[in-house]
Amino acid sequence: MTVSLRYHLSFLFLIICTAVEARPVPVSRSGLVGNAIAEFIPVGFDISKTPSLILQKEPQIKSSVPADWGIVPEFSVNDGKASAVVRLKGDVSLYGGGEVTGPLLRNGQTIKLWNTDNGAYGTDNGKRLYQTHPWVLGVRKDGTAFGVLFDSSWKAELTTNSDKIEYNAEGGALFRVFVINRKSPQEVLKGLAELTGTMAMPPRWALGYHQCRFSYGTEEKVRSIANTFREKNIPCDAIWMDIDYMEGYRVFTFNNKNFPNPKKLNDDLHQKGFKSVYMIDPGVKVDKNYWVYQSGTANDVWVKQPDGKEYHGKVWPGDCAFPDFTMPRTRKWWSGLYKDFVSTGIDGIWNDMNEPAVNDNELAADLRLGTMPYNTPHRGGGNLPAGNHLLYHNAYGRFMVEASRNGILAVNPEKRPFILTRANLLGGQRYAATWTGDNLADPRFMKVSVPMSITLGLSGQPFSGPDIGGFLENTSGELWAQWIGFGTLLPFARGHACAGTNDKEPWAFGPEIENTSRIALERRYRLLPYLYTLFYKAHTTGLPIMSPVFFADLKDARLRSEEQAFMLGSNLLVVPAFAKNPALPTGIWENLHLINGEETDAYQAKLLIKGGSIIPAGKVIQNTEEKSLDKLTLYVCLDSKGQANGELYWDAGDGRGFNKGNNATLKFHAATQNGATKISLASQSGKYPVNNEIKQINAVIVKNGKAYYGSGNLKTGVIIKSY
Ligand code: GLC
Repeated sequence: MTVSLRYHLSFLFLIICTAVEARPVPVSRSGLVGNAIAEFIPVGFDISKTPSLILQKEPQIKSSVPADWGIVPEFSVNDGKASAVVRLKGDVSLYGGGEVTGPLLRNGQTIKLWNTDNGAYGTDNGKRLYQTHPWVLGVRKDGTAFGVLFDSSWKAELTTNSDKIEYNAEGGALFRVFVINRKSPQEVLKGLAELTGTMAMPPRWALGYHQCRFSYGTEEKVRSIANTFREKNIPCDAIWMDIDYMEGYRVFTFNNKNFPNPKKLNDDLHQKGFKSVYMIDPGVKVDKNYWVYQSGTANDVWVKQPDGKEYHGKVWPGDCAFPDFTMPRTRKWWSGLYKDFVSTGIDGIWNDMNEPAVNDNELAADLRLGTMPYNTPHRGGGNLPAGNHLLYHNAYGRFMVEASRNGILAVNPEKRPFILTRANLLGGQRYAATWTGDNLADPRFMKVSVPMSITLGLSGQPFSGPDIGGFLENTSGELWAQWIGFGTLLPFARGHACAGTNDKEPWAFGPEIENTSRIALERRYRLLPYLYTLFYKAHTTGLPIMSPVFFADLKDARLRSEEQAFMLGSNLLVVPAFAKNPALPTGIWENLHLINGEETDAYQAKLLIKGGSIIPAGKVIQNTEEKSLDKLTLYVCLDSKGQANGELYWDAGDGRGFNKGNNATLKFHAATQNGATKISLASQSGKYPVNNEIKQINAVIVKNGKAYYGSGNLKTGVIIKSY
């Protein structure tokens, strides 16, 4: 027997063995748990071993799955690893998978679901990023859609091929699968929210521009950054404190020398209309003289090794102990740490490194995991079983942000928490917003930031955006200008820069690019009423804020892979300046101009308003505490019948009153008769006294590239005659 024949035979033997080992597992129970949402439970599934870390509550089967349902998962166990496959028929466009790099259209892609600190993620290694969303959205040719949720947090691989979706876990515990089957992708996303919850309504300031750097290292530096925004009239709402505010990177401490008086700093920032956001990582420095370490040890909260010793891993401060967030008492303890900290007037929290990331570079390359060893035990408790790191790793960040949110809420029950997290799990949108991690100052990363944030929105997380300008390496003025020209139109807008890189504030690249930055930010702030309305929609329904262009026309096959342009809500199309031959929807779309000078600025994204829609816009303000709505401008683009509709949601901007009716929804309508268009308030609901804020209304009809103006108020409406 030749070597090669022997090789082939043994390979064949291997295949046969593998095939023999794959054991199909029948479905033991299935049923509808909601409107066109089916649950499939395999034989042997044990909820006490595979708890749902994703769903917002345990669903109840109400009726049987219709016979013509079509999308039915096939379960199997192969070599001690649980899998599910969903076979697809016909032409289906696949999306989702959460935080992914690469194309928007996911047909033919494989990603690893294992939260990983993967800075400067490239096309290949980027197939594994900081978050886990075992979720796929499928859109058929006719625009009907389905979604598949693999209810598991195990280390896994998700493959989305045109003929089948495969989820292969690296563990044997069987899991449930939920399938949503509805008439459109929008309806499927609402179904996903019914299962996994929606983003909590953020405070309005979180929709403003955020300025960050690793790190603004002293109180003086923070003040000078804040002052420069105000001196230069560049709108901004928040300044961020990265790790250097701490004492030797010990979380919940302040550096005595550089941040001697955080309360005063926060007060001063507030005086100037800024909010402050501070970073908190999960790793706690192993230091017997440090109160957080002492208190964690006293409360027995730390993750332990299999031999019972405290697990230690290196992060910024050196050796760290890690809270075992699977234990209810750890989450309670962690929540409690925020009390004194947030009481210094901190407005927002940034939870980072919570994959959790561990620096194990001292190990040989093939032994490096960048996190805890797989067999590290977690103790669980409450309704969570004890389980090893393979089960709980992908939920580590999600548990952390849940505990952070509860802690912040306990300090200020009347405020809406704002938390930004790097790691998360599907369902974790209930606790925190996100950004797309450590990107590179490179045009490729600028471009991929669009499909990345769209995909997060198609995976339950509407509140995301990249580090504008790119985090790692120096950013050129050209790249900054290109990036900020559309980056301010993503749901989360923050500039950030890594230690050792050049200054990346809006004014750092000279007067011309400063002007470009100002225009881009003024556009965002003018759109605040529209954006806030979209955030409220996302909060109440689960619909994304930023969505793919094909949402404008589900039947137009040309649009299915468009990933340069994107939609904000359903009435505004954004075409970044870098976009080359983007596929845009047909129908009436008019250019929308919000700021003088934007037409001649080659870096600004093109904004297009849809025929038949009205977009509410506010004034240019320097921060969201300023009154936005006087005057309110209604931008109107009529449909072929001379009509248009639009909506404004508003409330106090913070607090819980909005949940108890203290909110306002205003619906506007435009109708044309005998050459005159009347734009008026069609209906108003809610108790929030928005009428006191809107004293005057300006309306602008945009038609064939021209603008026609009129003004009035909420009672009179606006009539525009000759155009
Ligand atoms: C991580 C974060 C980055 C932050 C840095 C220092 O790399 O992703 O945003 O600036 O840590 O805290």
